[in-house]
Amino acid sequence: METRPVRRALFPIACLCAAFFAGSVSTAAAEDNGVALTPPMGWNDWYSVYCGVNAQLVEQTAQEMVADGMKAAGYDYVNIDDCWMASSRDAEGNLVADPTRFPDGIKPVADYVHSLGLKLGIYEDAGTTTCARSPGSFGHEAQDAATFASWGVDYVKYDRCNIPYSDFPGETEQQVQQTLYTRMSSALKATGRPIVFPMCNPDPGDAPWEYGASIANMWRTATDIQDNFGSMLANFDANVGRFADAGPGAWNDPDLLQIGNGGSSLSDYTTEFSLWAEMAAPLIASTNLATLTHAELAIYENANVIAVDQDPLGRPGVPISSANGLWVLSKELSDGARAVLLFNATNTAATISTTATAAGLPKGQIYQMDNLWTSGITQTGGAISAFVPGHGVAMFTVTAVGKRRPHKVPPHTVLSLEAGVPQVGVGGSTTVSESFTNVGVSDVKKLRLTLSAGPGWHVKPLGRAGARLLKPGQRFTVAYRVTAPPSGPPLAFSIFTGGASYDPLDGRRTSVARLGELVSSPVHAPLSTADVTTHPASFGASGRALAISARGLGVLDPPFGAPRNDSYSAIYRRAGCQRSCTAQVTVTADPAGGTSGGAGLIERDDMNHGKHSRAGVVLFVSGNATIVMAWNASGGADVDHYLAVPSATVKAPVGLRLVRQDSVYAGYYSTDHGKTWNPVGTVTVAASASHGRQDVGVFHASGLSTWTTTATFRDFRVR
Ligand code: GLA
Repeated sequence: METRPVRRALFPIACLCAAFFAGSVSTAAAEDNGVALTPPMGWNDWYSVYCGVNAQLVEQTAQEMVADGMKAAGYDYVNIDDCWMASSRDAEGNLVADPTRFPDGIKPVADYVHSLGLKLGIYEDAGTTTCARSPGSFGHEAQDAATFASWGVDYVKYDRCNIPYSDFPGETEQQVQQTLYTRMSSALKATGRPIVFPMCNPDPGDAPWEYGASIANMWRTATDIQDNFGSMLANFDANVGRFADAGPGAWNDPDLLQIGNGGSSLSDYTTEFSLWAEMAAPLIASTNLATLTHAELAIYENANVIAVDQDPLGRPGVPISSANGLWVLSKELSDGARAVLLFNATNTAATISTTATAAGLPKGQIYQMDNLWTSGITQTGGAISAFVPGHGVAMFTVTAVGKRRPHKVPPHTVLSLEAGVPQVGVGGSTTVSESFTNVGVSDVKKLRLTLSAGPGWHVKPLGRAGARLLKPGQRFTVAYRVTAPPSGPPLAFSIFTGGASYDPLDGRRTSVARLGELVSSPVHAPLSTADVTTHPASFGASGRALAISARGLGVLDPPFGAPRNDSYSAIYRRAGCQRSCTAQVTVTADPAGGTSGGAGLIERDDMNHGKHSRAGVVLFVSGNATIVMAWNASGGADVDHYLAVPSATVKAPVGLRLVRQDSVYAGYYSTDHGKTWNPVGTVTVAASASHGRQDVGVFHASGLSTWTTTATFRDFRVR
């Protein structure tokens, strides 16, 4: 495979946002087809059914969008993705719909969707075939555009698989893409039908934003998204710095919304929706609308957040700060207010703060904060602050309301918790401080604070847990001594709940804050721990169970020439394997992401020396739910070969077994509690440097350097 350097979305946050708020952003000539003046909203089938699309699904989804309020909330495009076509064109070279999926063709489906007041989207490709190998539009652009217009199509997602680059000698892939996307853009315009034109060319090295605004209504800024926090975060990271490239008619697209696909928590879905709206991204739900829960639907239909996305000014939110994974974004709105998003990309709750002036509002005023998820309204003298759960957001519109204190609007307050250490051993103690800050412009009276912890914890306040009066700008803090239960599982996450009750202007109010604390049961000899990541890992052992909470990209080389990985954490037996041995474990939970993240068995000469320990092999359940076996065959510095059990969708618990005979290793996995052992492969590893003795253990890597996940194991043994 050809490898190209990864272009990263690095940008100098401070200077760009200063320029933005000084009003000096140059908006590139926007696509002039008159559509998508606000980011498109709708549905796409891809992530719910992949190649399973058909007329019935599209029509039922359109009905569903009317019935469940999505249409009323603003979702109007019903989009068909890849796999809708017959495998070849007709005798005149026209595209034909697959006769089993769309027995009457596309036109009646478009007519039906239109009859419900909705619009129809379709998918094509700039190459000779689509990604799923249906006929592509290369060389047929005008004909296909005319076909789409004649069917009544309103939106054409245009992909980039299988472009014949060799037909364009001397041109870069980017130049060829620009030529081909411009061809289809012009062809669609020539039909005279208003058709939204999204470009889908998100490979590393593609830079569609460099030319997209003048020919298309949106372009992908990131790779295909998955339904997990790490993937969502990676696509946010890739998109957020491109705020100056987008505007009315031309949008950055971090890919389809995953809310409802079952892989993430409601809180993570709330975050995804907030981030996408703040970045003025298209809001296209790629899920089965018929099975959404009420809570998921409520995310899609939050009118406050949709209004931020759809604000007619069309300015994406600008990052003001992002230190330590604590993000502040501000989006200028057409009425002069700012949508301020506080996003905690870490796993630990934290206070995130900015000011109204940093967000771009005029100085020296009183400001009203409208919380877009709780609908609470508060006032502030300038500080914008919230205690935000790990992975979570707080989202406000902030409006300058003049210098007179608003009647009846209570002060904005922040209740926060902070632990002395993020992790204690079983039976260990630390302190938790609980703070309450009044950032409003009026007093808070009769403050009472409480702290509770999970079962078995002992909590003792070290001072008075209340105050009679808190003036604007004042903070009250109380510390508690907290002691963990004397025993527990290998790693347990315990939640402290802080409570505040107080009198602002208008009667008694309460707030709640939650903070997680990790409690570990220590790993004892003969087991050791190794951490070759850049962020401290946590390890625990209790009875037959082991747990590792860690980051790390894993041991596989990432694609596209990105820096090589060797970043994992392990619990292992030093020199536990002498020339021949069988190592076995059951992976009981593996929440990692991507191909290289995962949990499983590892053997190498020296577990602590990553790259410098040459002979090695891993067998693991990857973040993509495949079984991967990877090894070092050359004796060089890296794991240089890998094989994955094709098309497996394995979910923990999974048994893994690695049988070694000198330098030959056979891998097996079991999904039926060890009744059947399926072979993964037999591989030969470079001869061991340490005379055949190797360290052997279990390892975990989250698949992302910014994201910690916890893998659990049972019954690790070596014979
Ligand atoms: C690519 C795109 C996806 C989807 C598939 C269809 O992977 O990025 O959004 O359209 O093709 O094959």
